[in-house]
Amino acid sequence: MSNGTQREQWGTKLGFILACAGSAVGLGNIWRFPYITGQYGGAAFVLVYVVLVFVIGFSVMLAEMAIGRNAQLNAVGSFRKIKGGMWPIVGWMGVIAGFIILSYYGVIAGWTMAYVLKSFTGLMQADAGAEFGAFVTNLPQVVAWQALFMAITIYIVYKGIGGGIEKYCRVLMPALFLLLLVLIVRSITLPGAGAGINFYLKPDFSKLTGGALGAALGQAFFSLSLGMGCIITYGSYLGKKETLPGAAIQVCFLDTLVAFLAGLVIFPAVFAFGVEPGAGPGLTFITLPNVFGQMPGGAIWSALFFVLLFVAALTSAISLLEVVSAYFIDEIKWSRQKASMVMGIVIFLMGIPSAMGVAGVIPKLAGRDFLDSADFLASNVLLPLGGLFIALFVGWFWTEGAKQEVENNGTVPFGLYTAWLWVCRVVAPIAIAYIFITGLKW
Ligand code: PFF
Repeated sequence: MSNGTQREQWGTKLGFILACAGSAVGLGNIWRFPYITGQYGGAAFVLVYVVLVFVIGFSVMLAEMAIGRNAQLNAVGSFRKIKGGMWPIVGWMGVIAGFIILSYYGVIAGWTMAYVLKSFTGLMQADAGAEFGAFVTNLPQVVAWQALFMAITIYIVYKGIGGGIEKYCRVLMPALFLLLLVLIVRSITLPGAGAGINFYLKPDFSKLTGGALGAALGQAFFSLSLGMGCIITYGSYLGKKETLPGAAIQVCFLDTLVAFLAGLVIFPAVFAFGVEPGAGPGLTFITLPNVFGQMPGGAIWSALFFVLLFVAALTSAISLLEVVSAYFIDEIKWSRQKASMVMGIVIFLMGIPSAMGVAGVIPKLAGRDFLDSADFLASNVLLPLGGLFIALFVGWFWTEGAKQEVENNGTVPFGLYTAWLWVCRVVAPIAIAYIFITGLKW
């Protein structure tokens, strides 16, 4: 479909929305959001998070959709076509962030697959902390799971937009939602679940520090897949007839809903069994298996939970590989098949040092292992910088073009246009610059 033939397109607008939601809903929602919320004190953090998603997240998402749909090209090509100059560098940073994020994302996603199996093979009886330690230090096993996960990701991207990404997201996203609902019912009906619901839903504003604000905005960017051209790339496969603001709001809504619901699975269960809610990254792989181990039928619940995590990770990994592949397809004129396979394998190899770092085979750098350092570079440097420039681009440098794009050339007026413009011009850049500066200190 590349090389001068017609560009691939989403079959339907719903397919586009589900694919964007699939990208957005990922480990960030189910693994990262609950533990960060736990660390920053629960409901008050959730409130701030929601405001940031709908003011800044929504605005940058709409900006990315407008850029991609207008240019009908990958992240680098889009900036080159619309403005040129130094702007393609923003797209470049996105492609590089795609490489980096998927490299370690594939490692963690591999863990989720292993944990589906482990749920039935002794994890429920074991000390989950020791089990996790033994697992991540078994490098060949971790890399084998990572390879399997990357192979599935490559397969779907290889199949293309309509026949691969859209087709699978249309099935996987409703499945994910169903799994979440089943798990919520289990969790909130546990004896003692009320304390968890309280912690999660009753705001305590004293815990809301400046650090919480930065964490909330950083989380919003990562969770909504913003700042690296992912939504630019997906937007580039959308037909000119569709309207953008509604799609952007729906993706923000779905992503936030899933993060919120993931908290409703985790906190009631965690409190019902008296464990620490702010347990950090280990909340999912250590605390939860301990909780499941104490439940009747725990193996099934544990397996369901890790299938949920796997599905969420898969639809996000697909979008990360698509950002990179689209660049090689549009700019270097590779076939989709070649781009997805070659780049998928390169990214898999780049992920091995992350797996080695967690296994303790290679030393830490300034207190961070390789995976943490890669995450830090991508989430705290490249994504915020990308988001900053994307907001400035539509706010100041491509203002009229962006207005035409979000209003379908004046045929569908966008009621919040002026508000959106000023968020892109001033509010988002200031807020992002703030997290960028505080984020660098972490
Ligand atoms: N949004 C994904 C998550 O929450 O896990 C991660 C992600 C995917 C970030 C795609 C960036 C991206 F382009």
